[in-house]
Amino acid sequence: MAPFSSRAGGIRRALVFVLATGLAGGAYGAGTPAAPKAPVNVGPGEMGIDALIIDGPPLTADQVMGPEHATYPRGMTCAECHTVKFEGVDVVTTASEQFQRNFRNLTQEQIWQKIVAFLPGRERFAIATVAGDTPTATTVDMVLDPQERIFHVVSEKGTEKLLELRQNPKISAVRFEGWTLAEGGAKQWTSVQIKGTAELISADDPRFVPTLDKYNLVRVTKPRAVRRFDIIRITPQQIVYFDTTLGDNGLSPYQFWHREGTPAR
Ligand code: HEC
Repeated sequence: MAPFSSRAGGIRRALVFVLATGLAGGAYGAGTPAAPKAPVNVGPGEMGIDALIIDGPPLTADQVMGPEHATYPRGMTCAECHTVKFEGVDVVTTASEQFQRNFRNLTQEQIWQKIVAFLPGRERFAIATVAGDTPTATTVDMVLDPQERIFHVVSEKGTEKLLELRQNPKISAVRFEGWTLAEGGAKQWTSVQIKGTAELISADDPRFVPTLDKYNLVRVTKPRAVRRFDIIRITPQQIVYFDTTLGDNGLSPYQFWHREGTPAR
């Protein structure tokens, strides 16, 4: 497939696309329903580029655009022109994976380096833990160890998330940055979405104090920290790195990293 083109180029290609599909329809002669399709302009998205809808055939989410597929205006999704069936294929395929399949992927190491660059220090995340069938989302500061590829969090003892993690160590966490109505700036977004498992390290664990020291985790004195906190050690199994600027180079805005030895999803 040709890479994303400029705004004007995208529209021109979309029009070429219409002419081609129109001619193909005409070739079937009278009595066939394949009338030439006109693109419908449904207006701009976040990036200010107009979307031009030309209805395509229904798809399953695991289908990939062929080399002849026309380019279309930047920022559109497959579902705007195709009815996409996301479930009931061989496995469930998500909208993010549809981007992953259709656009270029970085190597695992390149994705990891982008994750490290996005998380240089003590980073505020929303984290979800789960008890029974009820998820709880709270905020934490996570510190990445780029060598071990794990995160540490300090938590007040006895919080809801700690009680839940004792029942179920699975977590999902996200940090995001980018344009908001209040703060303005460029209409770009970056996020890191993590799925992983948590281990609790309490103050009587020999790893507790060395971990506090190594990661500079607390703002209170050590004697207070030992009384107040548990440490959560998070091992990410999968990370989705999302960055809208990647699309400028024909890359998928969603890049999937996974820990070696664990399945990609
Ligand atoms: C601007 C509208 C538009 C968008 C966006 C779009 N398509 Fe299409 N697509 C079409 C149309 C129209 C056809 C039918 C072309 C024809 O009949 O010659 C088509 C055909 C296809 C086909 C069958 C022919 C081929 O090129 O392989 C596949 C597969 C496909 N699209 C996948 C996708 C996927 C996956 C995405 C998102 C990554 C996507 N399309 C985004 C309009 C679109």
